[in-house]
Amino acid sequence: MRNTWSFSTAGQLVFGNGAVAELGPLVARRKWNRVYIIADARLVAAGVVQPVVESLTAAGVTAGVFEGGEPEPAVRTAVAAADAAARFGPDAILGLGGGSNMDLAKIVAVLIAHGGSPSQYFGWDNVPGPVLPLIGVPTTAGTGSEVSHAAVLTDADNQIKVSTLSPYLRPALAVVDPQLTYTCPPQVTADSGIDALTHAIEAYTATSFADMEAPADKPAGYGMPYEGAYPLGQALAEKAIELVGKHLLRAVQHPDDRAAREGMALAATTAGIAFSNCAVALVHGLEYPLGAVLHCSHGAGNGLLLPHVMEFNLPAREAEFAKIASLLSEDVSGLTTRAAAERAVAAVRRLSAAIGIPQTIRDLGGRREQLPGFAEKSFAIKRLLATNPRPATQADLLGILERAF
Ligand SMILES: NC(=O)c1ccc[n+]([C@@H]2O[C@H](COP(=O)([O-])OP(=O)(O)OC[C@H]3O[C@@H](n4cnc5c(N)ncnc54)[C@H](O)[C@@H]3O)[C@@H](O)[C@H]2O)c1
Ligand SMILES: [Zn+2]
Repeated sequence: MRNTWSFSTAGQLVFGNGAVAELGPLVARRKWNRVYIIADARLVAAGVVQPVVESLTAAGVTAGVFEGGEPEPAVRTAVAAADAAARFGPDAILGLGGGSNMDLAKIVAVLIAHGGSPSQYFGWDNVPGPVLPLIGVPTTAGTGSEVSHAAVLTDADNQIKVSTLSPYLRPALAVVDPQLTYTCPPQVTADSGIDALTHAIEAYTATSFADMEAPADKPAGYGMPYEGAYPLGQALAEKAIELVGKHLLRAVQHPDDRAAREGMALAATTAGIAFSNCAVALVHGLEYPLGAVLHCSHGAGNGLLLPHVMEFNLPAREAEFAKIASLLSEDVSGLTTRAAAERAVAAVRRLSAAIGIPQTIRDLGGRREQLPGFAEKSFAIKRLLATNPRPATQADLLGILERAF
């Protein structure tokens, strides 16, 4: 039984329309004279990279751009990005994009500071010390990587997504400008938006911090990859769930709706702060092998799995799910707690279908005989089983996948 929890986020968070204009001065003030931007060709074409470069150069900062980022980045892409960055000689690394580019930037900052290969740092707390200063500038409203301690790569050899989790991976500076998300195509808006909802729901309903055990093999003071649910993180998660309920469908259907884009940007960053302190759990644990093999986006995989995992977890978190139903504007008056909790699952399922998330593993091209392999790989991610509010056996995982098939 633990009595304490701790809270961390980005060193400074600047939020709002037009925030990119403040980026250059914020960077110059820190004496980061050379900044290497991790981006990709789609973002260059969408015109999202230019205002970031302009803000930096106007403040006297020299900017270089890596255009080789990709969705769900491979380990070898991180190595290529780090090589290019090393040639530029940066004082700071700026991840510009969705979670994919921001996560690449984190691994680049690790490799430049400590050398070696990405796989050396996989898992919790294997980064030995501070990395090159990191700046996160999201262009999707989704992952919360701009405030999180996580970086996810695709390990093609082992057909799984792998996380590097370290207190050193929280960006020193996060600049969240909702205007950068205006060019997001509807599918990216939908996938990344339901990922944010997944972060908030998993954080809100995770194993309590009091019941989480600190890893025995790490020195005191270093904490744990996830603290478990605690009141401050849950307050942020509640806010994020409410914002997604209000804004996600509209952001998908009306990409130029300012209020919807702003609401989703706030939801994603808030959910990122919540999950990177409290937890993600079984939805993410099941998505890591599934997404790596079926090549779906992280958000699409999570969105598909979320209602099924909620159904499995519901008996362990009835009151919390009932609250989620209210946050998603379900009318739960007169219902039992159980019936209200079931409304939360129905609301998430409806939202996910309305924004075009694939509804079955079959829709993603999966085959039934792949399910036991997915369950086995998910069951090996003990970190995400420990945070799940209901204990799950490998057979339980297979059962969830079969219902999602
Ligand atoms: N580090 C974390 O804490 C964390 C948390 C959750 C997920 N992730 C990871 O993040 C990745 C997913 O990130 P994502 O959902 O943000 O999507 P993404 O970064 O993979 O981007 C998807 C596509 O959308 C394009 N795009 C992004 N913003 C755009 C814009 N404004 N205009 C036009 N095109 C745009 C990108 O170029 C890319 O081709 C996965 O690898 C996932 O595992 C990381
Ligand atoms: Zn996620």
